[in-house]
Amino acid sequence: MKYLTDQSHVYSVNFSLSSGIVHILQAIFKPPKPIRGGIPICFPQFSNHGFLEQHGFARNRFWSIDTNPPPFPTNSSTKTFVDLILKPIEEDMKIWPHSFEFRLRVTLGPSGDLMLTSRIRNTNTDGKPFTFTFAYHTYFSVSDISEVRVEGLETLDYLDSLQNKQRFTEQGDAITFESEVDKIYLSTPTKIAILDHEKKRTFVIRKDGLPDAVVWNPWDKKAKAMADFGDDDYKHMLCVEAAAVEKPITLKPGEEWRGRQELSAVPSSYCSGQ
Ligand code: BG6
Repeated sequence: MKYLTDQSHVYSVNFSLSSGIVHILQAIFKPPKPIRGGIPICFPQFSNHGFLEQHGFARNRFWSIDTNPPPFPTNSSTKTFVDLILKPIEEDMKIWPHSFEFRLRVTLGPSGDLMLTSRIRNTNTDGKPFTFTFAYHTYFSVSDISEVRVEGLETLDYLDSLQNKQRFTEQGDAITFESEVDKIYLSTPTKIAILDHEKKRTFVIRKDGLPDAVVWNPWDKKAKAMADFGDDDYKHMLCVEAAAVEKPITLKPGEEWRGRQELSAVPSSYCSGQ
């Protein structure tokens, strides 16, 4: 796990899982812009699904480390974790006038698995609910995008962001890649696999509280147009993002939402036939 700190603050959060999470070489660290790569947190808005800035403000903010976090349940053996906290700053309240506490628990499992648990609580004192969309915008490292298959999303409905968010149904056995893709798969299973044949490695995403899954690769033209993305980086990355987009989450004051993502990397044969 790697994060940049400024005293007790954390600027953006990047993780690595057996070298499986991409660090874009051309990424630029220039606050308040987020660093491309890793796992940016999209909150309180995914993409342009609303009136806020693209992907919401959470990925552009300093997070603080909770030095005295609540423990795991007593029956859990997990001890390797860090809790990051985000609360709105004045600027956020002007554009999204809601008080919240966002606790992101990052846990490393014994075999290198990476668990992210987000707990978002409405701390409004004016009695008002708020509504948000969310995504773990995970950049996976792959050896060759044209050799990659994603399993678990076939035959599902999706919104195609490249076609005005129109709804279609996926056909075929597995998702493969030969051009730009930007889709929001709906009501997805709790387990999705990314098979990288060349590396003989499969990433397994397990998720809870996050019904949707975004699949994004900008391909060559968009890659060239992005200043913080190398021209050829699209060949070696794929974003598969556990998300809650189609049905936004509403929290009343005092209520809390939980969204969890667990990532593991296993030899491909282990996952075959799933
Ligand atoms: C994906 C979106 O999640 O993020 C795409 O579906 C978007 O539409 C991509 O282009 C990258 O977004 P950004 O703001 O990090 O360039």
